[in-house]
Amino acid sequence: MSDTFRLLVKNAKQVVMVCTNGEKFLTKDGMRNLAIHENASVVVGHNGLIKAVGPADSIESQFKKAVFDQVLDATGMCVLPGLVDAHTHPVWAGDRVHEFAMKLAGATYMQVHEAGGGIHFTVGHTRATDPETLLQGLKGRLERMLRAGTTLVECKSGYGLELETELKMLNVIDAARKTLPIGITSTYCGAHAVARGKTMEEATEDILSVQLPAIQKQISAGELQVDNIDVFCEKGVFDLDSTRQILQAGKDMGLNINFHGDELHPMNSAQLGAKLGALAISHLEEVTDEGIAAMARAKTCAILLPTTAYILRLPCPRARDMLDAGVIVSLGSDFNPNAYCCSMPIVMHLACVTLKMSMPEALAAATINAAYALNRSQSHGSLEPGKQGDLLIINAPRWEHLIYQFGSHQELVRFVIIKGNVVYE
Ligand code: NIG
Ligand code: FE
Repeated sequence: MSDTFRLLVKNAKQVVMVCTNGEKFLTKDGMRNLAIHENASVVVGHNGLIKAVGPADSIESQFKKAVFDQVLDATGMCVLPGLVDAHTHPVWAGDRVHEFAMKLAGATYMQVHEAGGGIHFTVGHTRATDPETLLQGLKGRLERMLRAGTTLVECKSGYGLELETELKMLNVIDAARKTLPIGITSTYCGAHAVARGKTMEEATEDILSVQLPAIQKQISAGELQVDNIDVFCEKGVFDLDSTRQILQAGKDMGLNINFHGDELHPMNSAQLGAKLGALAISHLEEVTDEGIAAMARAKTCAILLPTTAYILRLPCPRARDMLDAGVIVSLGSDFNPNAYCCSMPIVMHLACVTLKMSMPEALAAATINAAYALNRSQSHGSLEPGKQGDLLIINAPRWEHLIYQFGSHQELVRFVIIKGNVVYE
């Protein structure tokens, strides 16, 4: 009897494996030299895992007698790992297009926030919206991300700022995880802002003694999965000490620390994160040299969000300094009502032009390193045998077209594959 497999992708012009030695992440030198096969094929097994990647002729002879459920002829096309989006806020109701106009006219992010808009505006609408409506909104956004090549995405709560709505959001994310093909890792972000009418101390206390214990209870009962904990550590939001208490409490529950730091003001968030053993810190527009060194030492991943700096006209995060210092650099879309971008190809393009990253660096940051930031790089982020068969096939003769032709993913993305199944074509 012949061996059977789920999928053969054959004769691709290029297959970008990203890395080949089971690396959990890449730093600057590794990011420069991605593993790429010319004229290559990929096989995915019935378990959804990659069985083989290699030159088309050797795969052909190795699998001569094999039977495949599906064969895709990728002649003239390129195969890349499914993209990983390490930072999104995709569960909410009520857009903020009117605030975009205010910001274009000169209002800063914090001016809008302090006037009761920004996160507070979204909190009001999200609290008032039923779970089914939130789920439909989330599904539509995840579908858009998938069509742009994202196969694993981090999804945050954080538009509730009280137990009921935070739990509602986490359960909506869980429902999407159970029903959609896209991979999801979920993040409790109850400390996204200080709820109106509360002091920071009261909000911190509510998170520590009300919200986290109730979330823990649902997790222990097997009713909910939560993977990470997040805090917006910022002047006028949560200070360093509250951030430390909340992140430590989450860590004690077994959550990965992955938080917003050093975005609008230097807060020493990076140093705190490194000390707490944070897996990742997002934003970092205002990180100091000491913070960069601490992150490099602690292997705390930087999640850079070029859409936010672009939209808010912030100074760009110092990607080059981070790379030179040996920091693990990853990328996220930061999709939220302030930064309405579902496309990691656009994020990679911005990372190249505005953060001065090279195209191979941007791709490594949006695959293996973003997977590391989410504690998933053992199974995601590269096309290595044994990893999940999540593939992106683009209609172009070189993989770099995905970044170069910005805003063109609709024309470029030919197939999106998860666990060896075509989920979009
Ligand atoms: O990462 N900085 C804080 N949080 C989000 C914005 C969320 C919002 O404005 O709704 C961010 O950019
Ligand atoms: Fe964010």
